[in-house]
Amino acid sequence: MTQPALSHAVNTAFANDVRAGLTHAPQKELPSMYLYDEVGSALFEVITALPEYGVTRSEEQLLTRHANDIVAALPHDVTVAELGSGSGRKTRRILEALSRKRPTSATSYCPIEISRTALQLCRRELGDIERIAIVGYERDYLAGLAEVSSERKPGEPLLVLFLGSTIGNFGRLAGTRFLRDIRQMLKPGDMLLLGTDLDKPVDTLVDAYDDPVGVTAAFNLNLLARINRELDGDFPLDAFEHVARFNRDARSIEMHLRATRRVTAHVRAANLTVTLEEGETIWTESSHKYRVEEIDAMAHDAGFGCEQQWIERDWGFAESLLVAR
Ligand code: AVJ
Repeated sequence: MTQPALSHAVNTAFANDVRAGLTHAPQKELPSMYLYDEVGSALFEVITALPEYGVTRSEEQLLTRHANDIVAALPHDVTVAELGSGSGRKTRRILEALSRKRPTSATSYCPIEISRTALQLCRRELGDIERIAIVGYERDYLAGLAEVSSERKPGEPLLVLFLGSTIGNFGRLAGTRFLRDIRQMLKPGDMLLLGTDLDKPVDTLVDAYDDPVGVTAAFNLNLLARINRELDGDFPLDAFEHVARFNRDARSIEMHLRATRRVTAHVRAANLTVTLEEGETIWTESSHKYRVEEIDAMAHDAGFGCEQQWIERDWGFAESLLVAR
């Protein structure tokens, strides 16, 4: 047994996804969900404070202004589930409004998150709100939602929060399919609050995903650093640069890691040797941008009706309250 003393169990799903993505031809790719380890999540928090990245600020403003209207549109004894627990800052607006609306009884809030650390942070961030009982689910989104949905009492309605335009990380078809998967876990009358970043000029988007301080670059490069740390890899980080480019056909902003010279790296725990030619990229994330009509159409195709919508026009962000039909 040649295991190093402090090694943690290798995450085999991560190893398998890395092997599949880095042997994918012609475009090497890595799933964007792996950007969010402890370092990546901390870097993302910094991104949300950058002046160039308006996504989070814009949505926070919507939720601050309209929390009472949103909550007024919900059934009385609703349980709240959230896909991804985030920093809790935006969710706080909704939960506090719910707590005010229901001064005598408790509301369950069920964050669903694959990262235990994120769940702990969420509990610390939101644990002080009166009459909100936090029940964390350390599961992937759909498995967690299935569990929350099946554990509720008969007749108890559910509100699912899917904020931050995380839906944008899916392609348009896959996004609709994901909404349909969510819908399948729900009963008629259950609701989904969906945050979507709207279409905007290309320059604005490129600045938002390639900030001058280099935080987004660090966020992206950390994915290779994470592979080195967790999967015993040897990617030379100085041979890669961050690229943000707009894909006009998909209307998405893509992040890539570009090799600035020919690189051969090994990822021992994935049993992989990979070579990138100079200029070759690894595609690490897509963030699709939406037109308002498109959101309504996606919702409809997935079995929801759009009950109400709030739009912040300075940056361009929409919060849509969807109802399962
Ligand atoms: C948290 C997935 C919504 O796509 O805008 C920010 C992640 N990537 N800067 C996004 C991200 C680069 C973010 N999401």
